[in-house]
Amino acid sequence: MSEKVVKIGLIGFGTVGGGVCGLIEKQEELLKQRSGVTFEVVKVAMRDLSKKRDLELDPEKLTTDWQDVVNHSEVEVVVELIGGTTVAFDVVATALKLGKPVVTGNKALLAERGKEIFALSKQYDAPVYFEAAVAGGIPIIKSLKEAFVSNSLVNLAGIINGTCNYILERMTEAGLSYDAALKEAMELGYAEADPTLDINGWDAGHKAILLGAVGYGFLPSHKEVYVTGIESVKLEDIKLADSLGYSIKLVSVVKPSSEGVIEIRTQPSLIPKSHLLAKVDGVFNAVSLSGDAVGNSFFYGRGAGAGPTATAVVADLVDAALGSKAFLPYDESSYSVAPIEQTETAYFIRLDVKDEPGVMAKITSILGDKGISFSGTHSSVDPNAPDAEMKDVSFITHKAPFGKLQDALLALESLDCITAKPTVYRVESFS
Ligand code: HSE
Repeated sequence: MSEKVVKIGLIGFGTVGGGVCGLIEKQEELLKQRSGVTFEVVKVAMRDLSKKRDLELDPEKLTTDWQDVVNHSEVEVVVELIGGTTVAFDVVATALKLGKPVVTGNKALLAERGKEIFALSKQYDAPVYFEAAVAGGIPIIKSLKEAFVSNSLVNLAGIINGTCNYILERMTEAGLSYDAALKEAMELGYAEADPTLDINGWDAGHKAILLGAVGYGFLPSHKEVYVTGIESVKLEDIKLADSLGYSIKLVSVVKPSSEGVIEIRTQPSLIPKSHLLAKVDGVFNAVSLSGDAVGNSFFYGRGAGAGPTATAVVADLVDAALGSKAFLPYDESSYSVAPIEQTETAYFIRLDVKDEPGVMAKITSILGDKGISFSGTHSSVDPNAPDAEMKDVSFITHKAPFGKLQDALLALESLDCITAKPTVYRVESFS
């Protein structure tokens, strides 16, 4: 195999940047044997040069100015690992305009400013590789783009935020409150220093946009994509779902809802305990998908951390070095995002109620009027009340459009016998 040396520049030298340098150093021989490529890190930009790091780098190679890296005459491939959508955009745009391939793990950047970036990529014939942006330890971008290149994507559902999955598991298994589980996730270093995008669902939401892009060839606008986080998931809902045979997970769904219309949404949903996704615990990620020829496939692995993310970055570096084709949107006008009101699932609804005559009749009459039928009910009784009063009632409905459900919820909220805002989760069937 012919051998070549490829010179790279890194912007960002945190956990992942350090992991990338460590991996290409440790696996230099293996990388050469398998791909014929040896990587040389020629310049690295980092915020704080004085910070003590595990990996020693030649001080001559270090800078605090990203432009020193991108514009360096020897840097052939730019690795962007700083995150965010402002400076990172300038880094990537500058590299592309110089015709330099970019490797990035920045899901927010591509999901929110991907149209500009892919336009530059096309204009300057400089590829953008982003395997590390979605579930680092699972090669899902490559699989969709290469292994399943011959398949139409029938549906995809994933658990693609490890922090949320860890929090929900700790609530389920250890009975921790949401706040206690989040604190633990932060202490263990699973959540980001600012976990906002983890817990409000947008880290997974950005990843779902990229899966939609690679799966269907168009880049959805993040403004059209529906995202709800796990902030309001309650321990009592997890317990109730468990007793009904379901787990609550932050699930991202990407699938066609009608010809040329793609459903892309992320929210905490009930999933049957018998489904493989329900068995994905801790910080692990998983993607379950179906292709028209391959049928069902399931991917499982770590979605964060130095080793898994560096593995994805180095795979992309090899692709960049070998000139492999990178993703570019190709079907922009054929697809649109399904309005959330039109998307259909079953739902779990829990209503806090005053125990008084006619409560159930009023509730079922509203659901019936809105065309929402249900297959199961459950009610909890307050054991401390003198007359064992009913305190809440839950329903699992049949499938209905989300818009109809929202209408029903508004009507339910206006009833005097409903004492709190209704709690609602989708129930995913994956069919
Ligand atoms: N904070 C993310 C997670 C990792 O918890 O999955 C990278 O997106």
